[in-house]
Amino acid sequence: MSELNAALEHPVYNYRVVRQFAVMTVVWGIVGMLVGVLIAAQLAWPQLGFDLPWLQYGRLRPLHTNAVIFAFGGCALFATSYYIVQRTCQVRLLSDKLAAVTFWGWQLVILSAAITLPLGITTSKEYAELEWPIDLLITFVWVVYAIVFFGTILKRKTPHIYVANWFLGAFIIAVALLHVINSLEMPVTLTKSYSVYAGTVDAMVQWWYGHNAVGFFLTAGFLGMMYYFVPKQAGRPVYSYRLSIVHFWALVAVYIWAGPHHLHYTALPDWAQSLGMVMSLILLAPSWGGMINGMMTLSGAWDKLRTDPILRFLVVSLSFYGMSTFEGPMMSIKTVNALSHYTDWTIGHVHSGALGWVAMISIGSLYHLIPILFGKQQMYSLSLINTHFWMSTIGTVLYIASMWVNGIMQGLMWRAYNQDGTLTYSFAEAVEASFPGYVVRLIGGAIFFSGMLVMAYNVYMTTRPEKDTQDSPALAATA
Ligand code: HEM
Ligand code: HEM
Repeated sequence: MSELNAALEHPVYNYRVVRQFAVMTVVWGIVGMLVGVLIAAQLAWPQLGFDLPWLQYGRLRPLHTNAVIFAFGGCALFATSYYIVQRTCQVRLLSDKLAAVTFWGWQLVILSAAITLPLGITTSKEYAELEWPIDLLITFVWVVYAIVFFGTILKRKTPHIYVANWFLGAFIIAVALLHVINSLEMPVTLTKSYSVYAGTVDAMVQWWYGHNAVGFFLTAGFLGMMYYFVPKQAGRPVYSYRLSIVHFWALVAVYIWAGPHHLHYTALPDWAQSLGMVMSLILLAPSWGGMINGMMTLSGAWDKLRTDPILRFLVVSLSFYGMSTFEGPMMSIKTVNALSHYTDWTIGHVHSGALGWVAMISIGSLYHLIPILFGKQQMYSLSLINTHFWMSTIGTVLYIASMWVNGIMQGLMWRAYNQDGTLTYSFAEAVEASFPGYVVRLIGGAIFFSGMLVMAYNVYMTTRPEKDTQDSPALAATA
């Protein structure tokens, strides 16, 4: 066993922490998506709350969003950023101990969220629901993360800082700023605090945070992943390095202004709403620049898509990225938003980004990473990766198509007037009409979730210690 551990520990790099985060990505992915499937079922059949307070939709929904974004997405970002920064800087992480602090600290944050949210302990700010003691813990872990990441960059052996690190660095700095500023609050008891902001200012700060959580947590970090793993898996250099730099600066400069598109037709000053809309429209350009750069990296290697399901995951995730970053700017146009806001259209948009982009790029990157981390030549089963690919794609399409249909239908039903000025439909009629869409979404979600179980099996079979070490180059090397 000690021989196995010695072989698994790379002579230069700290793979231990990467392995830990990679495995937990799969575990939290399963947990978070299972809760997603449950709340999807509750929206079709509300009685599935069973009159238990901690099983109610209102408590489980933030559990779902926190679990998928911060536990699943967060662990994927920690794993890949620690891997990428070491490989591209050609040095070991700044400190193994500090890296371990980030792993255990982050798991503690997740565990605290999993306990407090079902108990109804919440600040009620979306994506920032966790109460102040957990906020402090997040800040501590994040500062240590920044020290490890930027410390590793400082001691790099390469003259250049590869573009993936720029995106990951921006993600780390922006999330620190967003978290600290939006979470400023006055503690009253251990489990209750009040935001220092009030009214419209509170809403504006909250959606500056909320939108940039999308821009920097769910986008910039994953673009860092894309810039490393797409060229690696395709076996080709990134299509245009110059474009990647333009992409980086344009994206970080524009994203930070677009938050007000979440507050159209509210008490926020009209000029701020229009500014948010214009910045969102401009955002289409850098987003598509990045998407095209990723796609074109495959030029000359398109044939690999026929045989390589990992590359398929990565490329299809880029297509969903392109789709959601086209849809987002359209939804930010005030007249379009007048139809889409409050409807399932937003939920469809969210999940074309969340399932199609965030989850699929993470899954593809993990399939590339896991054999390397565990000293294997490849994953246990390529055909299971292929099965997973189709389950994810079909699941995502069913989810988002049903929500688009529901969303547009709801928007149109709510605004339909009779000649005498009364509403054509009651709200309950719109809910009733949405039922088939909710069932289709549940089926799509369940398929996507089942794909994660297939992945867990494949990862388990790849990583379990074997007596026969034939397929392990790392072990063979030490023999
Ligand atoms: C099996 C997969 C999934 C299922 C079945 C699922 C289901 C759901 C459901 C039912 C909701 C509530 C919708 C509503 O309030 O009307 C929701 C919200 C949300 N989910 Fe998921 N989800 C899944 C995966 C994911 C993933 C992987 C992510 C992120 C990486 C994600 C991010 C979100 C976010 C951000 C919201 C809140 C959206 C908003 O407030 O507009 N979900 N999800
Ligand atoms: C150019 C890029 C994008 C723009 C301009 C954009 C724009 C928008 C707009 C206008 C809304 C609806 C706001 C409302 O009516 O309340 C929205 C909601 C949302 N978008 Fe995007 N989007 C973009 C990309 C993405 C991506 C790639 C993701 C996910 C990875 C994402 C995740 C979300 C989430 C989670 C919400 C729901 C927030 C909430 O109400 O809780 N967006 N976006």
